[in-house]
Amino acid sequence: MKNLFFLFFFVCAIRVLAQNPDLPADFLTKEFHKERRDKLREKLPANSVAVFFANAVRNRANDVDYVYHQDPDFYYLTGYKEPNAVLFIFKDNQTSANNKQYNEIIFVQPRNAIFEMWTGRRLGDVGTKERIGIEQSFNNTEFKKYNVDFTKFSQVLFFDFKNDVRNETYDSADLYDIIEHFKAKVNYPKPSTVSLNPEPPKNNLNTKDLDGIMDQLRGIKTAPELDMIRKAVTISCRGQNEVMKAMKPGMSEREVQGIHEYVFKKYQAEDVGYGSIVGAGHNGCILHYVDNYKPSLTNKELILMDLGAEYHGYTADITRTIPVSGKFSPEQKQVYDLVLKAQEEAMKICKPGTTFQDLTRVTKEVVNKGLKELGIIQDEKERHLYYPHGCCHHIGLDVHDRGEYDKLQENMVITIEPGIYIPDDAKCDKKWWGIAVRIEDDYLITKDGCEHLSVVAPRKTEDIEAMMKLPSPLDDFDLPALDKKGE
Ligand code: GLY
Ligand code: MN
Ligand code: MN
Repeated sequence: MKNLFFLFFFVCAIRVLAQNPDLPADFLTKEFHKERRDKLREKLPANSVAVFFANAVRNRANDVDYVYHQDPDFYYLTGYKEPNAVLFIFKDNQTSANNKQYNEIIFVQPRNAIFEMWTGRRLGDVGTKERIGIEQSFNNTEFKKYNVDFTKFSQVLFFDFKNDVRNETYDSADLYDIIEHFKAKVNYPKPSTVSLNPEPPKNNLNTKDLDGIMDQLRGIKTAPELDMIRKAVTISCRGQNEVMKAMKPGMSEREVQGIHEYVFKKYQAEDVGYGSIVGAGHNGCILHYVDNYKPSLTNKELILMDLGAEYHGYTADITRTIPVSGKFSPEQKQVYDLVLKAQEEAMKICKPGTTFQDLTRVTKEVVNKGLKELGIIQDEKERHLYYPHGCCHHIGLDVHDRGEYDKLQENMVITIEPGIYIPDDAKCDKKWWGIAVRIEDDYLITKDGCEHLSVVAPRKTEDIEAMMKLPSPLDDFDLPALDKKGE
């Protein structure tokens, strides 16, 4: 009787959980992902198979894991957002045990009423077949006995393992087990046989060439991806604009971060594409400053804000630097205008055929000439750390996205992000100390130029100052002090 009750409970639970949840209507379609797999297949060498593993679940502390984020290559090829899965894409048709022809197969985590009650819905094999559209979809518990002779392929391509995946004892088919089974199937060399200077493998395992193939594919954005990127970019610009309107001395770096991220969520962005960087004064000199601890911003400071909303997997990467007071000081404006000039010179040559190195060189030349004119350096050729990074990178499913880093091509999406960072102890006049400026925008490379995607967030000092004069819906948003009782 008790058993019957539990059975009834499980059936009810799985029915409730199986109901289609309310979902946004603008996810990438299964046709998009299938077309990407077909394009990958075209690029594979003769008689080969490419293998992709889902991202690992990472533990945060004790019994709390980090919010799961799919491996971007896996997501690109499938749209599948759950862990503990493996995907095979074959160059040529294979024949299944029941004589079916197939050229791709996926193993995913199975439905499970109890796990789904605790940690969320799962597609399972049936859902994966329907929603992801891979005909050969199986539960990962079947993978151990998946019987393919991998020695017959000229090459088995995959990304090598970093041996940093946990084996969860309650799950005998988690990613760790999948990898172990895979290693056994393909005769992956045992650790004891790996020397410090390994010879090229004598077997058919290829852990090198998928990188280049995925760079070629993901570096050139398709129309549905551009829709996602445009949304991520516009949302991120709106975050910048709302902060410009709301900015007041006395706010904290964390509060500024919160306004951006609230706007992201308001527009249904799931996540941030990277840790939000909000640094006032000399904190802006730390390129990837994510502490965001400064409790009270002062009127004299600039605040550098580098944030990107992640919308359905695709991230923007936008930086604005604004004066807390609403008005740039003369020194702040001089440095700011120099960074802006560097960005604009790079924009002029941002078109197919230009190299990433060309873009960096142009921005460095402008910055070095300007720093000398301002007396911050003595010689344009002087080695210094005021602009220590490159100016451009692809964006997409990763903030520093895959793509070829040579000549720009139509439908690449890149950043242009020069900066000048003058720390408090710099060897120049004290009046420059604590001025850190980065201006970062996102661009779609077109047939003969580029489209400035993040144009909605102002960049010129007068436009920023004008935006900062506008009223904000947050002007009246006051919360009681923490030590105040009641409302
Ligand atoms: N947000 C990191 C970067 O600008 O590259
Ligand atoms: Mn960037
Ligand atoms: Mn950035």
